[in-house]
Parts: sequence; structure tokens; C-alpha cells
Amino acid sequence: MASVYDRADIYDLLEDENRYAAYKKHWETVLDGKNVKTLLDVSIGSGSVTLPLVDLGVRLTGSDLSESMLANCRKKAAARQMEVVLECCDFRALDTKFQNTFDCVASTGNSLPHVNNEDVLKTLEQMDKLVAPGGYLYFDMRNWDKILKDRNRFYLYNPFFDGDVRINLVQVWDYHVDDSMTFHLLYTFERENQIFQKEQFEEHYIPVSRGILLEKLRRMGYVDVEVMNFPAYVTSVAVEGGDWYCVVARKTRP
Ligand SMILES: C[S@@+](CC[C@H](N)C(=O)[O-])C[C@H]1O[C@@H](n2cnc3c(N)ncnc32)[C@H](O)[C@@H]1O
Repeated sequence: MASVYDRADIYDLLEDENRYAAYKKHWETVLDGKNVKTLLDVSIGSGSVTLPLVDLGVRLTGSDLSESMLANCRKKAAARQMEVVLECCDFRALDTKFQNTFDCVASTGNSLPHVNNEDVLKTLEQMDKLVAPGGYLYFDMRNWDKILKDRNRFYLYNPFFDGDVRINLVQVWDYHVDDSMTFHLLYTFERENQIFQKEQFEEHYIPVSRGILLEKLRRMGYVDVEVMNFPAYVTSVAVEGGDWYCVVARKTRP
């Protein structure tokens, strides 16, 4: 079954200027009071979450496993006349591609749970190697503790539009006996109430609890650990009850 990361054109249909502005506000909240001038996003994808950082004066570097997503990121950065350094790299092997350090190393967009829990912890170690002393490690992801508690099957999106084409997206979630999950992404495209195109993708996830991630940060010597909603400016929902959350923490070691 196809992965939507090979179809960045479809992945990016959800994008609009409102989302862009929301992510910008998110970063203003997360980075408030922090001296972050350089940031590496190790799962930048097509840049939806981190491109707005460039507007905030941050020098952005990104890596990702998917050439299709990186190609869209390159296009979107060029359209906004932004300079972004992009590399194709598995986040489990960042040290094969990067030697310099960054004020912040991030993984955005619920990307870490594409690998198993052990590899997530190894990836945090890889990210940590690239965080400058006094810098920050950041990640955002779905609230897997809540997903496993609620065991919802359907995740619905409001219909959105590409010109005169109405796009409906439904996610259907399968829970497997080995505790992994498959997200089925089902798209229909319609004009004048007639469906003329259907697209289906599958993404595999291995849920990871917030507890083991926070424990790993603590063991790596991170302090000032902030756990916020994603987007971070949303304060009307307790983090435990939200669908997504983010974590930012400061490195103390040299
Ligand atoms: C849901 S997308 C998020 C992309 C972007 N951060 C965003 O929020 O739009 C997940 C991304 O993780 C990337 N990814 C999955 N496994 C990866 C790995 N082992 N190393 C690097 N990137 C990976 C995929 O290629 C995809 O671009």
C-alpha cells in the first residue's frame, strides 16, 4: 500500500495560510525567552510545521527520509524566498549526515513513532548529539496515551477545498495485536457533488508513551522540560486530554 509521504502533493492539500499562521504562533510560544537562532528539524517532511520559523529569523535546516516530501519543502521554501538547507537522512542515523550543532534540534509532525520505541530512544540520543550546550531538544506528536485509552477508530477532518474541488479526508485506525497501529488515510475528491478521484494510503505507527520519552530526556540530563499542547498557544485543554502535545527541554551537558 502506498505511503502519503510519496505523494507530497496530496499531503500538502491540507495546507493553507491559516495553518501557516497557526504554526508561526506555535513557535513564537515555544521559543519565547529562548535564544534559538539555528534549528534542525529531523523529520521536516514538506516543511509545513517548521518553514514559518524562517519568518521568525531562525536559520532552518531540515532532514527527512522522503525525497518527495523534501522536494515539496524545497518548492515551498523557494516560493517564499526562504533559504533552507535540506538533506535526505534517516533520523536514526543523523551522525552520518550532520557534524555541526544547532541551538534546537526538533522532530515535528508525529514522526518519531514511525519507528519502534527502542529506535525512538536511539533517535533522541542522535538528536541530542547535535544540540549545542545550553540548546534545546523539541518534539511534537499525537497523544498516544490517549489514543490507546480511547481506542477510537475514526479521525475526521472538515472538508477542504482545492479551487472548485472539495476534498474529504477520513483516517481509519487499526489496532494490531502487537500494539502497533495502521492509519488508513482515505481521500475522496469531488466536483459538483460527484466523486471523480479516490486515493488511499497507509501509515504504520508504533505508539510511544509520554512517560518513556520524558524519562529519556531526564536521563540525558535535560532540564526545564516543558510539556505543552500542540499548538502550544492552546491552553483551554489540559495536555493529558489533548490530541497532540509537544515537549521542549534544555540541554545542560557540554
Ligand atoms: C506526518 S509527516 C510530518 C512531516 C512534517 N514534519 C509535517 O509536520 O508536516 C512524517 C514524516 O516523517 C518522515 N519519516 C518517517 N520515518 C523517518 C525516519 N526514519 N527518518 C527520517 N524521517 C522519517 C516521513 O518521511 C514524513 O515526512
